[in-house]
Amino acid sequence: MDLKKTLRKEVLAKRTHLSESEWKSKSESIATELLKLDIVNQVKNIASFVDFRNEVSTDAINRWILSSGKSLYLPLIDMKSRTMTFYGIKDLNELVRSSYGIMEPNPSVHEMVDPQRIELFITPGIAFDPNGYRLGYGGGFYDHLFAGVGNEIPKIGLAFDLQCVSELPLEPFDMRITHLVTESGVKKF
Ligand SMILES: Nc1ncnc2c1ncn2[C@@H]1O[C@H](COP(=O)(O)OP(=O)(O)O)[C@@H](O)[C@H]1O
Ligand SMILES: [Mg+2]
Repeated sequence: MDLKKTLRKEVLAKRTHLSESEWKSKSESIATELLKLDIVNQVKNIASFVDFRNEVSTDAINRWILSSGKSLYLPLIDMKSRTMTFYGIKDLNELVRSSYGIMEPNPSVHEMVDPQRIELFITPGIAFDPNGYRLGYGGGFYDHLFAGVGNEIPKIGLAFDLQCVSELPLEPFDMRITHLVTESGVKKF
């Protein structure tokens, strides 16, 4: 969809204007807001992601999940089969850099998890609307994933305020998140 493509470019261009120190301090605020949530503290099995380029930093979040004795699952995208699968990670140093430059699990070391076992998803995104709809990078990976995950499972988007838009071009397969955390706080949908 061309409207989605245009919007992806616009928001990503805006995000590149964040300075390193703004990126860092806003990411810290987002991590603090997220880790205060009861729903995060109450569950054991959490799927997260590793930030890429100037996405909200998830480093402190992923470390917190591990140090709290919870189980951390991170995504691996296979472009050939156009699928995203999650693997259990015990040590962030074991991740490997994909050809796209994203740090990913290593299927020969890490164990794949059935998404039905995951109790909470922390999701990236390019833009989010006031109803919890999300614009991704164009692979539809989270739409596919969330189509098979129960409505009761929390799906928490992380974004800077500048990624929030009043309206998104939507298609019937676009899935909603349940919460959005920005540096201004938490929005529940
Ligand atoms: N549940 C689904 N079943 C089949 N195809 C899907 C599903 N969800 C998304 N897709 C496919 O993924 C593609 C990308 O979706 P899009 O919403 O544009 O990307 P993103 O969500 O990453 O921004 C769509 O063209 C669509 O064909
Ligand atoms: Mg979509």
